[in-house]
Parts: sequence; structure tokens; C-alpha cells
Amino acid sequence: TVTDDFIRGLPKAELHLHIEGSLEPELMFELSKRNGIDIPYASVEEVKAAYDFSRLQDFLDIYYAGANVLQTRADFHDMAMAYFRRAAADGVIHAELMFDPQTHTDRGIAFEEVIEGLLSARKQAEEELGMSSLLILCFLRHLSEEAAFETLKMAEPWIEHITAVGLDSSEVGHPPIKFAQVFAAAKEKGLKITAHAGEEGPPEYVWQALDQLHVDRIDHGNRALEDEKLTERLGEEQMTLTVCPLSNLKLCVIDDIKDHPIDRMLEAGLKATLNSDDPAYFGGYVGDNYRAVVDARGLSRDDVIALARNSFTGSFLPADKAAALV
Ligand code: HPA
Ligand code: ZN
Repeated sequence: TVTDDFIRGLPKAELHLHIEGSLEPELMFELSKRNGIDIPYASVEEVKAAYDFSRLQDFLDIYYAGANVLQTRADFHDMAMAYFRRAAADGVIHAELMFDPQTHTDRGIAFEEVIEGLLSARKQAEEELGMSSLLILCFLRHLSEEAAFETLKMAEPWIEHITAVGLDSSEVGHPPIKFAQVFAAAKEKGLKITAHAGEEGPPEYVWQALDQLHVDRIDHGNRALEDEKLTERLGEEQMTLTVCPLSNLKLCVIDDIKDHPIDRMLEAGLKATLNSDDPAYFGGYVGDNYRAVVDARGLSRDDVIALARNSFTGSFLPADKAAALV
């Protein structure tokens, strides 16, 4: 049997976490007061009641609205520290944080405020929790490639603090190939590459992420299973998939947690990991995601150990550091 203590006690990395998606309703209210920014909810309960989604876009609309309360570097710092503390309690010893600069710069918040807040939290997490972390700058795919280039340029003074670039937001209608040039430019700068693909979008988008963006990782990747050749390719390359079960459930990528494909992924020889995606919105942190699929799909201790091991070997840490944590 796989107990909660076993899950919690197993050292793990989290590879798919949007820091803006870790903003809990309680902190959202606190920041709304601190900054004098109105939010369209009267109580924490009302906020939570609004978190009822039928698809990715339903969530994104609310997620971008929630981010409005984030104004200063202290806000970004406090949000990230809350995440680090909560993740540490789940046995996370290394976290790779995605952030969406355009969500903030497009409403007049300086890139500097965003990143300096995140960097000071990273430092505090290392000192106080012994937790390592790194940053993944994500481009919003519903915006243009030109806007992504501008964001990459804005990040230039902090580039040594950024490990990778990613691609998120509304997937369908915004294929990876739309961003081929900006990802090539990022790779030129020595950045690692990841992209959300095959969450709502078709297998074709996963092929594009591989062949056009030259990704080091795929975020989600669920729909790759619809394509046998693609599944084979992902297995052969041992491409890391950052899978997010509770997100899949809340966004109706699956109808029931009992239908989650995580064990089929492992059986197919895919290098899957478990992650929380947007824990404040999807009803759980990484430990809850392990618990949910262990219960729904009857994963064994060995499966759980394999998933945790994949989280280190699939991380963007240098190979020697990752190996030391396994
Ligand atoms: N998919 C796409 N964009 C996102 C997500 C997601 O799961 N979370 C935050 N932005
Ligand atoms: Zn995501």
C-alpha cells in the first residue's frame, strides 16, 4: 500500500507549476487589500465557487483576472514563498517555476518587479527550506510571436537567472510552429525549451513541439497517446512529460480521475512525472496529485518511486546535480 507518509516522505521535484496558479484565494484577498485592487468576489468561498471549469479557456479567464492583484515585487515574493513552503511540506526538494511575464507587463507592471520578487523568494527558499529552484519564462501563445520576442528582450538583463522558456495559455488555434523563431532564438541563448502540447490540442501539436521547437520537455502531452507513432517516438527519446492529473480533471481533459492515463503512459515506456500545474485553482498540490492517481489507478510503490525518479532526471538541473538528488 502507498500511504500518505510514503508519498510525502519521498523526495521529489516539481516540474510543471505556474507560480501565478499558486495564488490562493486568501492571499488574493490580502493583496487586493494591500494594493487597493478590487476583485469581483465578496469572500474566499465565492472565489472558490467560481473555480468550476469546462475547458482550459474557462480557467484562463479567471486565472488572468486573479493575477491583477499582483503589483509589487513583494507580492511576487510572498506568492512564491507560500508555494515553496507548501511544496516543501509535500516533500518537494526542487521546483521549476513557470511564470508569465506578459500577464503582468501588459497591465503596466515592470518585468523587474516580477522577476526580482521571484528571485528573492528563490533565495529565501534555498536558505530556509533547503529547496532548490529555477525559473521557466513562458510566452503566452494567444499573443503574437513578435510579443514573445519583446518579452525575451525584456528578460535579457536577468537571462543568467532564467533556465528555460515555455509556451502556455490557450492551446487550440495557437500551434507551436507559430513560435518557431522565438524558440530558436531562446535556444541560441542557451535556454532549455519546454511547451504545453497535447493538453487540449491534437497530437500534431506535440509533433510540432518536437520537430519545430526542439523541446527538451513536453508539458502535459496527454493526447500524444492517440497517435501510436508519436507515443513510440516519445518513448524512444525518453522525452519527459509533465503530467498534471488534478488539472486534467478540473479542465475536463478527462471526465473522471479513474480514466487518468498515467499508468498507461508508464506501461508504454513514457517518462512521465506528476505535477500540480495551478494548485490554487485545481484543488491540490503535488502530493494530492500523487494521492489521486495512486487511488484511482492503483499505482504501486514502485510506480510512485519511478515517477519521483523521473522528476529529477527530467529536471533542468545539470545531470550531476540531478543524479545526486535521485
Ligand atoms: N495550460 C495552458 N496554459 C496554462 C495552464 C495550462 O494548464 N496553466 C496556466 N497557464
Ligand atoms: Zn500548465
